[in-house]
Amino acid sequence: MDRDNPVAAHYDRTSLAEALVARLRDHGVERDAVTLEHLAALDQMHVRGHEATVELLDALEIRKGMKVLDLGAGIGGPARVLASRYDARVTALDLTPALCEANRELNRLVGLSRRIKVIEGDATDLPFEDATFDRVVTIHASMNIDRKRTMYREAHRVLKPGGRFGFYDIVAGVAGSPDYPMPWAGDDSVSFLVPPSTMRALAEEVGLRALDFRDLTNASRAHMVRQQEAAAAGKAAGGPPPLQAGDILMGPTAAAKQRNLRRAVKEARVGIAMAVFEKPRK
Ligand SMILES: C[S@@+](CC[C@H](N)C(=O)[O-])C[C@H]1O[C@@H](n2cnc3c(N)ncnc32)[C@H](O)[C@@H]1O
Repeated sequence: MDRDNPVAAHYDRTSLAEALVARLRDHGVERDAVTLEHLAALDQMHVRGHEATVELLDALEIRKGMKVLDLGAGIGGPARVLASRYDARVTALDLTPALCEANRELNRLVGLSRRIKVIEGDATDLPFEDATFDRVVTIHASMNIDRKRTMYREAHRVLKPGGRFGFYDIVAGVAGSPDYPMPWAGDDSVSFLVPPSTMRALAEEVGLRALDFRDLTNASRAHMVRQQEAAAAGKAAGGPPPLQAGDILMGPTAAAKQRNLRRAVKEARVGIAMAVFEKPRK
């Protein structure tokens, strides 16, 4: 994978898995004791974290033994949920070498290496045969992908007939553009937000049939308010800082990225959408 790719450069971090293990140690969890539940607070790189992952995977009706491809898998949070909670056979593909490496290290740490194959690659040019997977999922990656129709066409191609594709993504809002930096982009040169209706139309153009479409902007807004209130209450009570990894995953500008995202969601300058499609059997 091209290390000069501007999207991969945005997400590039060194020694990510070690930094996450160190964060858990600061919270009293030694390396040998790290479980999926501990990681869940740190490894879901999207709004509403683990709760949203489960909402999408439930909507996709994933069953034991299914072959599932995760596009833009990051450090593998959703992939580990797929392997552990749903007993799926997972392929986790991502553009950014450092995140793939962290994904592999965290899988080793919790004993899931044999059930999750991690591949460096581009979601718009998949290295798989036609009709390989029962499910294809993507979470908070398409914001970085200009060629969404190509990505959806690839998802459709690698799905078996009757298979399903689901996304959970940040989309363009109704009230103008957001401010940058954002968690997925330092500026708008690597950010490609479109309205959810456009995403649906593009997916339908390549032959996918919409089964479920949800606007989760209000749920996300409420979640962010609850998170901030809980953090403020914890601080006022003199408690330890909440277990989170925003600074590790998003680097030195993490606070500005999180602030801009909260404001953009509040002001409807971005939205949050979830969708499930089927590849018809013909
Ligand atoms: C915000 S992270 C989300 C990671 C993961 N899906 C999660 O929710 O925890 C976005 C990820 O998409 C990946 N990505 C962006 N463009 C991509 C592309 N064209 N192909 C594959 N991965 C891509 C980035 O490298 C990054 O890991």
